[in-house]
Formats: sequence, C-alpha cells, structure tokens
Amino acid sequence: MQQDIERVLITEEQIREKIKELGAQISEDFRGKDLVVVGILKGAALFCADLFRAISIPAELDFMRITSYGAATKSTGVHRVLLDLDYTLEGRHVLIVEDIVDTGLTIKFLKEYLSQRGPASLSVAALLDKPSRRKVEVTIDYRGFEVPDFFVVGMGLDYAEKYRNLRDICILKPEIYKS
Ligand code: PRP
Ligand code: MN
Ligand code: MG
Repeated sequence: MQQDIERVLITEEQIREKIKELGAQISEDFRGKDLVVVGILKGAALFCADLFRAISIPAELDFMRITSYGAATKSTGVHRVLLDLDYTLEGRHVLIVEDIVDTGLTIKFLKEYLSQRGPASLSVAALLDKPSRRKVEVTIDYRGFEVPDFFVVGMGLDYAEKYRNLRDICILKPEIYKS
C-alpha cells in the first residue's frame, strides 16, 4: 500500500487536531439543540466516527449511502439512495458529514433530498474541500482542509475501493490511476 503513495499531504496528527477544533465548534453551535449527525458512506465513515466523538453535546448518529447512476452520469449529479435514514428529521438540526466535497454535486443532491423532510437546519461538515473541481456552488459550514487538485486517498477516501485505511491523507502516484 505504502509503495503506491507519492507523498503525505495531511498527517494523521493534523487531522486529529482539526477534528478536535471542528467538534468543539459544532458542540458550541448546537448546544441545547436536537442534533442528528449524518455520515455519508462509505468515504465519510472514518471522519464521521472521529468527528462524532469530538462532539461533546448529546447527538444522534445515522448514515446514508448514495450512489451516482454509474460512470456516465457521475458528473451529472443524478443520484440514487441505497441506504436511507432511520428516523424523522422534522424540526431537527441535521449535520451532513462528508470526507470530501469535489464537484459539489453529492452535497447539492443531499441538501435537496433532506430538506424535503422539514429539518430545522441543514449544515455540512467536510474533512476536505477541493474547490478547483467545483461544478455547483455549495456551502461548507465546517471545513477541515482545502486541498489542491491531486488524487488524494486515506482516512476513508479511496481509489477503486483501496487505501481507505491509510491514516494520513496521501497523494497517490500517478502511475497507479493512469495504468
Ligand atoms: C466520493 C466522496 C463524496 C463524493 C464527493 O464518494 O466520498 O461522497 O464522492 O464528490 P462530488 O462532490 O463530486 O459529488 P464516492 O461516490 O466515491 O463513494 P464512496 O464514498 O463510497 O467512496
Ligand atoms: Mn462518498
Ligand atoms: Mg469513492
């Protein structure tokens, strides 16, 4: 696995520090509110688990899994829900947790989809933000790091389902995804 890595972009330690800060900010912002934290599988599973533990107020944890309708429509933002939430969102404060915002189409879809359920508020936390790839404008309320347009893996982010268990955010060697 390590031999496929060009270099480390963000270290495990930097990630840990950032998650602590984000958790403290979220705890302050939602104190006394009914908070539901929604992790988007699979990429956000690891970040969501760490962020959830960094939140020091009562909160519920749930997950969704969505997919774009195949490679051809990946860029069109047409999504299908594979796993939906267990509970109602009516009048509750929802925090969507993502590993990365790239084109922004996934977040745009999720915000439209979940806003139909009458939440009191809908916010977004993302570990990584790659603004150079954006196709639609989205607001990231709690952002970890802005990253340049490299192919990054680790901390939940995959290439062909691999490398999610790397503890740092790493840049993949170009020959790996070009071959
Ligand atoms: C990745 C990532 C985000 C989404 C961001 O998920 O985890 O969910 O793409 O891209 P966007 O801003 O261009 O929509 P992916 O579809 O690869 O699924 P995975 O989380 O299971 O890896
Ligand atoms: Mn994802
Ligand atoms: Mg992926």
